[in-house]
Amino acid sequence: MPQRETWATRTGFILAAVGSAVGLGNIWRFPFAVGQEGGAAFLLVYLLFVVLIGFPAMLVEFTLGRRTQKNPVGALAQMGGRTWKLVGLVFVVTGFTILSYYSVIAGWTIRYTFASLTGAYTADPEAYFGAVSVGFDAVAFHALFMVLVIGVIALGVRSGIELAVKFMVPAIIALGIGLAAYAFTLDGAGAAYQFYLSPDLDVLAAEWQSILPAAAGQAFFTLSLGMGVMITYSSYLAEDRNLASDGAIIIGFDTAIAFLMGLILFPFLFTAGVDPGEGGPGTLFISLAAAFAELPAGNILGAVFFGTVAIAALSSAISLLEVPVSYVIDEFGVDRMTATLGVGGLVFVLGLAPALDLIFLDLFDLFADAILLVLGGLLVSIFVSWIVPDEALDELQKGIGELGSIGTAWVWAVRIPVVLVLAFSLYLG
Ligand code: PHE
Ligand code: NA
Repeated sequence: MPQRETWATRTGFILAAVGSAVGLGNIWRFPFAVGQEGGAAFLLVYLLFVVLIGFPAMLVEFTLGRRTQKNPVGALAQMGGRTWKLVGLVFVVTGFTILSYYSVIAGWTIRYTFASLTGAYTADPEAYFGAVSVGFDAVAFHALFMVLVIGVIALGVRSGIELAVKFMVPAIIALGIGLAAYAFTLDGAGAAYQFYLSPDLDVLAAEWQSILPAAAGQAFFTLSLGMGVMITYSSYLAEDRNLASDGAIIIGFDTAIAFLMGLILFPFLFTAGVDPGEGGPGTLFISLAAAFAELPAGNILGAVFFGTVAIAALSSAISLLEVPVSYVIDEFGVDRMTATLGVGGLVFVLGLAPALDLIFLDLFDLFADAILLVLGGLLVSIFVSWIVPDEALDELQKGIGELGSIGTAWVWAVRIPVVLVLAFSLYLG
């Protein structure tokens, strides 16, 4: 049995987790949810959930992973036995399903990076999206993206994931800041910031039933929670470090970048006169392409924007593939190369459905995000906070020191608020 892999450095782990967190969720899903759920009112609830629910829930996954040094299934089996092992399997299925359509959308972003440069969508953004988002074109770019994901994961934790994120994460941050600075100079920026940043409490009162589950789901999705990613990544930690401060850094970056993306996208959309609240997942591509077609130097801008999105999607997708791959390696003793090719190949096949018909994209997204992810997050939170709280606390205090009442506060934050919010979202969603 070869020795299990570990991160080479602390920064490597943090960058990998930030790379996982920052992805299509920040760029494609987040502004879309803000637009659909009434603007700043949603943003407010979302930010509350990230801090009050997301942070404690991330520590749940971290303690489980580092304590067991195992994939999610193995981790839950070791600490909870046969029944809880099933929760680990929910994680594996969720990650697998999400990656299959995530890759299709990521494929579009690669396509759009090139299309921006050649001006392919300028004449008719809607017709262009219709032509490339499904069918052979979509399959081809989905395949290309999966090849990249498989390539990184096949190289392993240190020479694959850790090396890749050292380049990708700084690039995402630099490009994002550059784009936000540019967006600030646009005509529509004022109206955009207004929509984005001043919460209308009437909207909140009227629509909380849809805002709450959407905000909770988004908080989990964006932080890569409820899928076993953070269990898997923390299982590669060799040393006992302060998990709470690592978690805070990761959450800080993800939130900052989601927020920044709103500052980029809404000015683009408002300047081009596009309604941010309308339509489905494709609208963002259509309306953004329409915006780039209008804006000065739009083709360069478009290429930089979509290129950034593609990089962010890649650093997230590798974490999604790593979950089932680590499961297969740990539990079945398969070597990394075989596991990666096998699982990656299956993800590609499942992704054919959303690549050939967008109905499946919506269906998968709904099923995985509104149900599976929340369910997995709920069950693992119940497990850690109610069934094994002492072990979890013991793990959390390593690298921090005596936790005292802070530890108790964490356990209770998971026991009641996290569990209630997730249970409610499952019920309302
Ligand atoms: N957090 C990623 C995003 O915001 C999505 C993701 C979810 C990635 C779960 C990995 C695991 O896009
Ligand atoms: Na995210």
